[in-house]
Amino acid sequence: MSQKYLADELMVNARKPVGELGSKLIDMMNENHEKLAIWAVSHLNISKADIILDVGCGGGVNVKRFLEMTDGEVYGLDYSEVSVKKSSKLNRKAIDEKRCEIVKGSVSNMPFKDNTFDIVTSFESVYFWPDFLNDLKEVRRILKESGQIFIANEAMPIEGDERQKELCELLDANIYSKEELNEFLHNAGFTNINCYTKESKDSFTCDVANWICIMAQK
Ligand SMILES: C[S@@+](CC[C@H](N)C(=O)[O-])C[C@H]1O[C@@H](n2cnc3c(N)ncnc32)[C@H](O)[C@@H]1O
Repeated sequence: MSQKYLADELMVNARKPVGELGSKLIDMMNENHEKLAIWAVSHLNISKADIILDVGCGGGVNVKRFLEMTDGEVYGLDYSEVSVKKSSKLNRKAIDEKRCEIVKGSVSNMPFKDNTFDIVTSFESVYFWPDFLNDLKEVRRILKESGQIFIANEAMPIEGDERQKELCELLDANIYSKEELNEFLHNAGFTNINCYTKESKDSFTCDVANWICIMAQK
């Protein structure tokens, strides 16, 4: 394995963590995504009564963070068994207290009723959503009226970045620009779109990366 880039067989687990390597990558993501998450969440207004869902919750660090920010219930959803297992372990106490639930499922067809959540977040996951426009509409369905969607990514497209291109092919991922995210959200029916960006570093390679967090209202 090169010092700078993780081996492909480990990296491929970012799309859907599986087995021991998936578990190992989740541990790394829990640590490496922390700076992005703290920066992004500083732009999010959470009230003590909010009911929150984190889609593509991975290791469950953001579920844990939200449990400390609201007195409402916090849910995590992920289609990877390993992610569900690790998120559940991290948030065991809140699950036992019935304040938290980690659900296995796909963003494309979520097992939640219409108008359920005040906030639906997703960190470093929308790159992998299979049908982005319809998946955003599915998020809109489960949000309450005036509820918020919140997306945080540490990558935006960089022209001529060969490693980014390779990773998109390896992971079958889509990296969206600010304009594309705006357009998808608008076309999915969201309004009041607000966006923040920051020139920073990729958390794994320390290459230049452009962070983005974007929020919009149902
Ligand atoms: C790169 S990891 C990010 C995990 C975590 N949010 C973080 O910031 O560390 C992407 C996560 O999204 C999940 N995911 C990807 N596509 C998904 C889909 N269509 N439905 C549900 N979860 C999905 C993956 O299983 C994985 O746990």
